[in-house]
Amino acid sequence: MSQDQTAAPKPAPHRHAVEVVPDAGSLATRTAEWLIEQIAHAVQRRGRAVIALSGGSTPKAVFACLAGHPWRERIDWATLHLVWGDERFVAEDDAARNARMTREALLDHVDVPASHVYPIPADPGGDADGALDRAHVAAELYATTLHALNGGATLHDDKPLFDVVMLGLGEDGHTASLFPGTAALDERHAWVVPVQTDNVTAPVRITLTYPVLESTHAMLFLVGGKSKHAIAGRVLGGDESLPAARIRPLGGMLWIMDQDAATG
Ligand code: 6PG
Repeated sequence: MSQDQTAAPKPAPHRHAVEVVPDAGSLATRTAEWLIEQIAHAVQRRGRAVIALSGGSTPKAVFACLAGHPWRERIDWATLHLVWGDERFVAEDDAARNARMTREALLDHVDVPASHVYPIPADPGGDADGALDRAHVAAELYATTLHALNGGATLHDDKPLFDVVMLGLGEDGHTASLFPGTAALDERHAWVVPVQTDNVTAPVRITLTYPVLESTHAMLFLVGGKSKHAIAGRVLGGDESLPAARIRPLGGMLWIMDQDAATG
């Protein structure tokens, strides 16, 4: 390696702000408020808000909040462009799909233009052995979608792809579908990759990779419930054996946690 390509010094643990709210209800309302603030900043900055949504169950209450009064009236939904940080590679109508959860909780109730919603491709179906190959095709397709959303440009630190990246935290320290021990953790070139966890009963996943998720003005970890207390403590303590502890957004990082997750 030439002199200027020697390994860069390890980045310092990322600074993050942490907000603790009393319960699941306030976790949803506080997050809805924060998202409205971020959308306003984004629209002022560049006329639109490009948001990568998290999946799983925690965001559902946030989306339901945004779909209702008074939050719904406070957002110009036509300014939003929505992608997902990860997805379960299952059939379109499978209840496990993050896009289905988001549609039922939010998109069916607000007017985001259909052309501004970019779901990760679903599994078109076929034999189980071929799922990973089909997921590779879907991941490459989605990477093309993200490239187009980014105006065909490569990722540049001075022009983040996202205005907001929403993330959750799994009890094993995964975030998006960046699971411990998977090759996705070391992927620094592809924007989107399939992930086969060691749980063979679980569906193949598709995830955005670290460089893409990190290309954001603002990152939110949304964490609730007693079951997340221990792992949240390890991630916030900088335990870099955990995927969630390794993410370094270009912009600020905020954790919004309920009391159960914060104090157990
Ligand atoms: C997914 C998510 C995943 C999730 C965490 C937390 O597709 O499952 O993207 O990263 O955010 O597993 O999930 P819960 O909110 O259900 O605890």
